[in-house]
Amino acid sequence: MANPLLKSTSTILGIESSCDDTSASVIQNGEIRSNIISSQEIHRKYGGVVPELASRAHQSHIIPVIHEALETAKVSKKDLDAIAVTQGPGLMGSLIVGLNTAKGLAMSLGIPLIGVNHLRAHVSALQIENKIEYPMLCLLVSGGHTQLILQHNENDAEIIGSTIDDAVGEAFDKGSKILGLGYPGGPVIAKLAEKGNRDFHTFPDSQTKDLDFSFSGIKTSLLYWLRKELEINSEFLNEHREDICASYEKSLVNMLLKRVKKALKIHNVKSLGLVGGVSANRLLRIEMKEMGNRHNLQVYIPSFEYCTDNAAMIAKAGEILFRHGDCIGLEAKPYTRA
Ligand code: KG4
Ligand code: ZN
Repeated sequence: MANPLLKSTSTILGIESSCDDTSASVIQNGEIRSNIISSQEIHRKYGGVVPELASRAHQSHIIPVIHEALETAKVSKKDLDAIAVTQGPGLMGSLIVGLNTAKGLAMSLGIPLIGVNHLRAHVSALQIENKIEYPMLCLLVSGGHTQLILQHNENDAEIIGSTIDDAVGEAFDKGSKILGLGYPGGPVIAKLAEKGNRDFHTFPDSQTKDLDFSFSGIKTSLLYWLRKELEINSEFLNEHREDICASYEKSLVNMLLKRVKKALKIHNVKSLGLVGGVSANRLLRIEMKEMGNRHNLQVYIPSFEYCTDNAAMIAKAGEILFRHGDCIGLEAKPYTRA
């Protein structure tokens, strides 16, 4: 229940540092006033995030990013009512940088500290731009997680399906590595897929129980199929890179939609949501909208800037928690798992 003594207006600084993006955002009375994101390019040459390098880069970026967020919002530190920060899940070294910076700020300003769950914040990204109709079935697709969430109201959610191995973002990233493309894999595969034939090849879906997902099989399937084709024609990859990307992307999107469709048969909802880094994928966005149209459901998808990791979603989730009087103490620790 909301605490009636709490202010209905608020200015909150959100900080995100769970993986390889350092970000800070100011939300004032429900409106995002700034959202500064500093992405770490260094991981590209390693084909994935190197945790030690990520925490070092956060350490250098975090203060300038916070200052820029405050300046852009035209807000000074003394205007802040609370600091919201990602507490987990994520990489330990990366989380520590954000949480300790937030603790220092909250302590020196004498204001509350709010610990935000990164996954919950991805769902909150939808609340920045929409007034959600609940219950909502939300598909959360990121580099570390793939979940089907039944959101009963703004503060109450139930996970009804989850990946049993890799996340779908990982399937994009690992697939990209196999194809010799860069990191992160999702955007580069999606770009090449635009010019390819989606029906060139169909990758098999893995059998899972209930509403669970599995994505480790599809990248192995890509690897073995590619090896076999390259033995027959050494130019196969060069000749069909775009077709392979298009087929791989379509198979991944179909695997996701199959579970959404199944969940809609079981759960009676008023709307559909799509969140997390992979929600930036255009094919997935189109297919989710079509699924919503077929079922006569409102579909919410964040603008591109709120899809991949950003602090605006942390500030928004923090604002909701603040309204409910949900704060953490200075002894709070980061957590790496959901
Ligand atoms: O939510 P996010 O920024 O970080 C995590 O919390 O994991 O998600 C990052 C993931 C990466 O796996 C990246 O390849 C994927 O989102 N991604 C995409 C696209 N843009 C980012 N996947 C498919 N298509 C895209 N356009
Ligand atoms: Zn994320």
